[in-house]
Amino acid sequence: MTSPMPTVPVGVMAQILELARWAPSGDNSQPWRFEVVDKNHVIIHGFDTREHCVYDLKGEPSQMSLGALLETLSIAASGHGLETTVQRRPEMPDTAPTFDVRFTPNAEISADPLIPCITARSVHRKPMSIRRLTRDEKKSLEDSVGLAYRLEWIEGFRSKWTVARLMFGNAKLRLTLPEAYRTHRDVIQWNARYSENRVPDKALGVDPLTVRLMQFVMQSWSRVELFNRYLAGTVAPRIQMDFVPSLACGAHFVIKAQRRPTTMDDFVAAGRAMQRCWLTATRLGLFQQPELTPLIFSRYIREGTTFTAHSALTAQARRLEERARAVIGADIERAVWMGRIGAGTVPWSRSLRRPLQQLMRSN
Ligand SMILES: Cc1cc2nc3c(=O)[nH]c(=O)nc-3n(C[C@H](O)[C@H](O)[C@H](O)COP(=O)(O)O)c2cc1C
Repeated sequence: MTSPMPTVPVGVMAQILELARWAPSGDNSQPWRFEVVDKNHVIIHGFDTREHCVYDLKGEPSQMSLGALLETLSIAASGHGLETTVQRRPEMPDTAPTFDVRFTPNAEISADPLIPCITARSVHRKPMSIRRLTRDEKKSLEDSVGLAYRLEWIEGFRSKWTVARLMFGNAKLRLTLPEAYRTHRDVIQWNARYSENRVPDKALGVDPLTVRLMQFVMQSWSRVELFNRYLAGTVAPRIQMDFVPSLACGAHFVIKAQRRPTTMDDFVAAGRAMQRCWLTATRLGLFQQPELTPLIFSRYIREGTTFTAHSALTAQARRLEERARAVIGADIERAVWMGRIGAGTVPWSRSLRRPLQQLMRSN
């Protein structure tokens, strides 16, 4: 028996989905597939990577990515005078978030000025300018997240130093965590400037020699352990990917929800706000690198989620949680996003996306 061919989107629907697929996702996982029902209705079949990704054990980062996708869909649809309504199917398990998205013509909808930013937006993992953001830039970004969120700034050398220490410690945990090894190994596309379904090594923000060393070491976990134990293998990548970039930026920022996020809908909504903020940064000519893993590990610690079989690493994460709390504030449980931001040059290397055809699903 042959399975039915997915309906190929045409016309306006194809144009909207073509843009929407550029939404960001953790490790460029693109946890969505599209099923076109008719010219005004598409079903988004979401999934998460909890089975193999230690950063996604509860699916929340994937849910934020889905939020980013829904926001991008809505922005793209505005270019055609369409209003977007989204309904999540409550009967679906949280490992398979499913949304009915419908587009309706509405004469009051005008094209969102963020449309040109959808494809231009890209993560920036290299050092940026240390110029502080202007008052106007900060105001635009603060407004972009909407009333349900507040954007807080971490600025100035001393404050950035505390973030640099946090990120440096956090990276040690990530790079010595056996449970994260598979993710790191599988997500990097080596010798690549672009990647459709992963992160190209040239976009990582490390010098060519260190990249070569990382590629060699990451062939097996025993090599990683050996390098970490006897050759301080994590130091060079951590300095280049975490410590220096934490200082070389205009500011760090944290998006906090008015109330602690607990449900899938909370994380989807947070993803929508985050994407508006990121696209607004792009419109202002600014760049961002997410700094989500300290928030993820501290949430695991607070909620008692087991993420490693190694008690020493759990203890390390507990110490990092205290440090993160000192940096982010006593209300850290309301933090849904963290990143560094600044002026810079357009990244030379970036992730691309799976072609639309590969993202289509039949009914
Ligand atoms: C939920 C989420 C978490 C992310 N976490 C990180 C992160 O911790 N570090 C990082 O460098 N990029 C992070 N990213 C950025 C993605 O890796 C990036 O968006 C994706 O690879 C696509 O690349 P692009 O943004 O350049 O199009 C995250 C993105 C999302 C949506």
